[in-house]
Amino acid sequence: MSTNITFHPGVFLERLLSRNKIPRFIGSVDTQERVGLLKQTGVTIWLTGLSASGKSTIACALEQHLLHLHKFTYRLDGDNVRLGLNKDLGFDEKSRVENIRRIGEVSKLFADSACIAITAFISPYKADRQVARELHEKGGLGFIEVFVDAPLSVVEQRDPKGLYKAARAGTIKDFTGISAPYEAPEKPDIHIRTDECDVTRAVEVIIEYLTEHNYIS
Ligand code: ADX
Repeated sequence: MSTNITFHPGVFLERLLSRNKIPRFIGSVDTQERVGLLKQTGVTIWLTGLSASGKSTIACALEQHLLHLHKFTYRLDGDNVRLGLNKDLGFDEKSRVENIRRIGEVSKLFADSACIAITAFISPYKADRQVARELHEKGGLGFIEVFVDAPLSVVEQRDPKGLYKAARAGTIKDFTGISAPYEAPEKPDIHIRTDECDVTRAVEVIIEYLTEHNYIS
């Protein structure tokens, strides 16, 4: 698809900077330099799980917690991104693959900017999550897969938007867990059972992981 396009590594700032008496600097800032200057390492925290498993709740609480620690963080959430960037996409398999491909690319850009990107998408297919992971790792960026796990019986009972009921009634087609697959991670970096622990504990577990792996201090 992309022809006649070359990756642009940055801008030539020498004249501008020397005029302003800023130390001479040529070329782009690379990821390592950015990390050193901002004193923060970018990473994507990828939450995956059924609808109503608690992804958005955990993502919101985690984002707030990190912001209170004065960390640069940003949350990308299925329900929001599908109203904008991905509003052309539905829930058939091809659309979900494209949804996650775009989110993988966008979260990588955030992580590359030294941001702690938090994504909250069902992301039902293992292969797509793996593509997002490889994209990050190829760019030297961290990718933490968090399985937000609650049994179907529990999320169906929660059913905050009445979507499971509608899916059972056949009003909504291709609904994850009912009429579309969810491929659970086999070896997630973090496994959170939201039927067994509350949101505070879930955030604690993720913060502990980030600290142990030197993403935050
Ligand atoms: S994903 O499968 O492509 O990763 P995504 O996380 O963006 O899904 O969107 C899921 C949200 O869309 C759900 O939380 C729910 O509110 C809504 N939704 C609407 N239709 C469906 C459907 N058929 N399957 C799953 N979620 C749906």
